[in-house]
Amino acid sequence: MCGIVGYIGKREVTPILVNGLKRLEYRGYDSAGIVVIDKKGTGHLAREVGKVAMLEKALAKSNWGTASIGIAHTRWATHGVPSERNAHPQSDCTSSFWVVHNGIVENYKDLKDALIAEGHKFISDTDTEVIAHLIEKFYHLADSKANGHRLVNAVRQTLRQIKGTYGIAVVSKLEPDKIIAARNSSPLILGIGTDENLVASDASAVISHTKNVIYLNDGEIAEVRGDGFRIETVGGDGEETKAKVEEIEWDMEKIEKGGHEHFMHKEIFEIPEVIENSMRGRLILEEGRAKLGGIEDVKEKLREVKRIIIAACGTANAAARVAEYMIEEYAGVPTEVDIASEFRYRKPVFTEHNLLLAISQSGETADTLAAIKEAKEKGVMTMGIVNVVGSSIARETGVGIYNHAGPEISVASTKAFISQLVLSALFTVFLGRQRDMSIVMGQRIGEALKELPGMVRRLLADEPHIIELAKKYKDTRGMLTLGRKYNAPIATEAAIKLKELCYLPVIDLPAGEMKHGTIALIAPDFPSLVIAPEDSVYEKTKSTIEQIKARGGPIIAITTEGNTELERFTKDIMYIPKTLEMLTPILATIPIYLFAYHIARLRGHDIDKPRNLAKSVTVE
Ligand code: AGP
Repeated sequence: MCGIVGYIGKREVTPILVNGLKRLEYRGYDSAGIVVIDKKGTGHLAREVGKVAMLEKALAKSNWGTASIGIAHTRWATHGVPSERNAHPQSDCTSSFWVVHNGIVENYKDLKDALIAEGHKFISDTDTEVIAHLIEKFYHLADSKANGHRLVNAVRQTLRQIKGTYGIAVVSKLEPDKIIAARNSSPLILGIGTDENLVASDASAVISHTKNVIYLNDGEIAEVRGDGFRIETVGGDGEETKAKVEEIEWDMEKIEKGGHEHFMHKEIFEIPEVIENSMRGRLILEEGRAKLGGIEDVKEKLREVKRIIIAACGTANAAARVAEYMIEEYAGVPTEVDIASEFRYRKPVFTEHNLLLAISQSGETADTLAAIKEAKEKGVMTMGIVNVVGSSIARETGVGIYNHAGPEISVASTKAFISQLVLSALFTVFLGRQRDMSIVMGQRIGEALKELPGMVRRLLADEPHIIELAKKYKDTRGMLTLGRKYNAPIATEAAIKLKELCYLPVIDLPAGEMKHGTIALIAPDFPSLVIAPEDSVYEKTKSTIEQIKARGGPIIAITTEGNTELERFTKDIMYIPKTLEMLTPILATIPIYLFAYHIARLRGHDIDKPRNLAKSVTVE
């Protein structure tokens, strides 16, 4: 996600901030920016799209006075495309207050409208800019005798208006002796030095200056000076809180991966938060409907849609196949999925009121992009579910939904896939409620979605059991992966992961298809991974398990907690909590990811960069 670094002390601030940003580069970003306040109280700003090196180049030409306070940011776009004016720091009408922000302000639209009505002028498309304008507003409303604490009070009042998540750092030329930092669900630390202090979203940005850090808690706000700091609560009476200074013991590499051995592992463990971020502000539970900002403008056209064609590749294609089941079952719109690389060559037939939906993490996959262009050429409406804001697919489709899954660094897509499934469910509710879906059904899906982060956390806690299974199967010569209905695509997703990470020959099939040929492969040294939650097709999947057992094939099963029946066939079972049938793929995928990850690790593979693969496939 985005990165924050701030410094206040006696040294020249710009190189410290630029080096801090470089330390944060591994997190992924699309633009970078910096503001410093010089000794005369003048603010100097630089923002650039692209790499920190571009920002550094621009800074080399600048002639800023000596400054020892400043904040900087690497941005991963959520609201507004990557551009200079959308990069952080963001400012108010008078360029007196500067803010860098990680997270999402859910109610920014309402706040922005109110501020505009009060005369504030906005420059960017970001949600962050409202924070700067609110600080400006509250600063000028504040009691001017507030003894040099007006800034912290104005920021506190601002944060009380905000719904959503934030890690922020604020500086102002009106109080140039402090940085204000606050956090709510987005990490922020203080780096405590001698006659200098730092603020950062990540320990990697401070470790070359100090190993002593304070991890801010949610709901805390800090006033950080060169020679000290004070931490208070955002809510209540703003009382002082006790801070614990901790020593960082990790090395750089470990910090970048948040203590995980690989980015893939880190990204799997981010999934609960990713589910929350993908849903944030998008589920209107009382009305049993989904509010999807990026498609609001075309909602009337979507009401008319009679057929959906989803084009995607690889893992995104597996997500598309789950979406197909969801949309047809709950929204009643005929839906079909195309492998994007095949789509343009098979002369697709379009009829009136068709929609081409493209799903892509990177937004740069050449085959998916070509499918969109082909559909547009034929006058078909297009839409995207894309993770990277401002990417080619996001721009080409014009309308769509962003995942808000944060940058995915590991080549193997994990958290983005789960977020694609969550958005597919939300899009299904959106379409369904435009058609025959009742409010009660919309609410049921919404409530089940809200339970998912907690359930995923429980599944992740079961990792030791999965490691044991991985040890048992790590030397297999191949595998068969099977699932039915909603989980047939998950058999494919399991196969993709076992192939790309473990280099295993794996065949994936909808379970019912096994008997038409592939059953000949079943043998004591050829295991089958069967996804068999207790759903509407459970009995059928169970009979596939019986067929494998009868032929001496080892079975690894995934089923619902409390279902002990499959223990007759195998001891190797991964249990998932009970949820709505349409959401079982989300839960079934978690143990599969851990299983594939640990087999690859035990086999000594380069997990984050598997052989022959690239993160975005920009060639046909
Ligand atoms: C998944 O783990 C893959 N590395 C790959 O299949 C990927 O999902 C595919 O290339 C599509 O990428 P996209 O989502 O960026 O379009």
